[in-house]
Amino acid sequence: MQDAAFQRCIDPTCGYTLGIREYAFACPKCGELLDVVYDWPRLNPPRSLEDFDDLRADFRNPLNFSGVWRFRQLIPFAPENEIITRGEGQTQLRPGRHAADYVGVMPERFHLQYEGLNLSGSFKDNGMTGAFTHARMVGATRSACASTGNTSASMAAFASGTGLLEAIVFIGLGKIALGKLAQALDYGARTIQIEGDFDDAMARVQEVCRETGIYLMNSLNPFRLEGQKAIMFRVLEGLRWQVPDWIVVPGGNLGNSSAFGKAFAELHELGLIDRIPRIAIINAAGAPTLSNLVNDRGLAWNDGHVDNGTIEAYYDEMDRENIHACTIASAIGINRPVNLKKALRTLAITGGVVRTATDEQILDAKAIVGRDGIGCEPASGASVAGARLLRQEGVIAPDDTVVCILTGHQLKDPNATIWYHSMSAEASKAALEKYGVCSAGHANEPIRVANDIDEILRAIG
Ligand code: F0G
Repeated sequence: MQDAAFQRCIDPTCGYTLGIREYAFACPKCGELLDVVYDWPRLNPPRSLEDFDDLRADFRNPLNFSGVWRFRQLIPFAPENEIITRGEGQTQLRPGRHAADYVGVMPERFHLQYEGLNLSGSFKDNGMTGAFTHARMVGATRSACASTGNTSASMAAFASGTGLLEAIVFIGLGKIALGKLAQALDYGARTIQIEGDFDDAMARVQEVCRETGIYLMNSLNPFRLEGQKAIMFRVLEGLRWQVPDWIVVPGGNLGNSSAFGKAFAELHELGLIDRIPRIAIINAAGAPTLSNLVNDRGLAWNDGHVDNGTIEAYYDEMDRENIHACTIASAIGINRPVNLKKALRTLAITGGVVRTATDEQILDAKAIVGRDGIGCEPASGASVAGARLLRQEGVIAPDDTVVCILTGHQLKDPNATIWYHSMSAEASKAALEKYGVCSAGHANEPIRVANDIDEILRAIG
């Protein structure tokens, strides 16, 4: 008899299944993405989301302290004694009055889910705890990932922090924000800088893992996505289990958006929510693959029968025209998102939409979030920029309940913040011009004064 939790190919015409203690980062039969699937009646699912309120108060049990594993009844693939946790997911909804105003919605119905407060400073820790748990279940000894920086920081921290696995990180040369590179180095990961971009590194790491059996920690790994479902569980928890109208999330490799759609589909299937929020995925305009495929070329989930020809033609075009991702939001500078099909599924499940935000819009939104006392990295600003665009279009209504996901911490990429706020400085101007940012509408320039008390007092105003 099959386990109550197992893995299955997302392509309905294939449907190949693997046991929960097997490892493959793609379907061994057809190469498609894998899902973790649950036979819920055999797994003691919760009867009500309020059941989780008591666990939140019990911080002495490390599994309840974790903002991922206190929801373990909704992520039931591992026995409790095999779970690897580092206290990830201590995050919750925050208000943002400036950001609400900027988006154009009611402040009391606008929320920021600030995942920058995770252990390694980004949402990735939510997923890494899932993947490390599975890596231990299958007895892996080495882990690898390609990264725009946050996955590598999180993986390296988990590898060193648990002492379980060796960490090997692949990054594009010059494509990683300073703080993230610092983390991988400091946590002791073997760091390979490939002469190429993230899409190149992602292709190479899959070859390496296929050849060597090294455990792949990218979000191709379905156990990463199981952990990332918990971000949505905490959003609901923060809203006292009321379902919002909108979740707005930046889209890069499309792991989050894939995980969020799965989370809501499962909650709905279990009768724990009575409606599903709409998910808006925001690409950077300099890495617009999902938006172009969905909005311009009509690509859709189509019950799992995705038109591969449309995707291949688009990728061929990019190759022919030598198009590479280019955005100051380096975290989402990805043109071949590995979870593309799962993100299409999320759009179908949630009545979702996709938009792009320019680097200027992204940085402006990031600065507004900063005025709310919350520091996020550029990619996170995409969610607030996207919510504003959707409000301007009238897709989001002024009285909708909106949750924007802030995926990473401001200190990951201090350069971007400094450039924006000191735009009149030549170095900043040059850096921003590279990304087509010509005005910094919300800059807070440093004021230079002589070492003189009168001048200082004048500057204070
Ligand atoms: N925001 C931040 C801060 C990220 O680091 C990433 C992805 C995303 C958004 C996009 O999330 O892939 O789930 O759509 N960073 C990956 C990395 C690719 O390597 O750190 P996604």
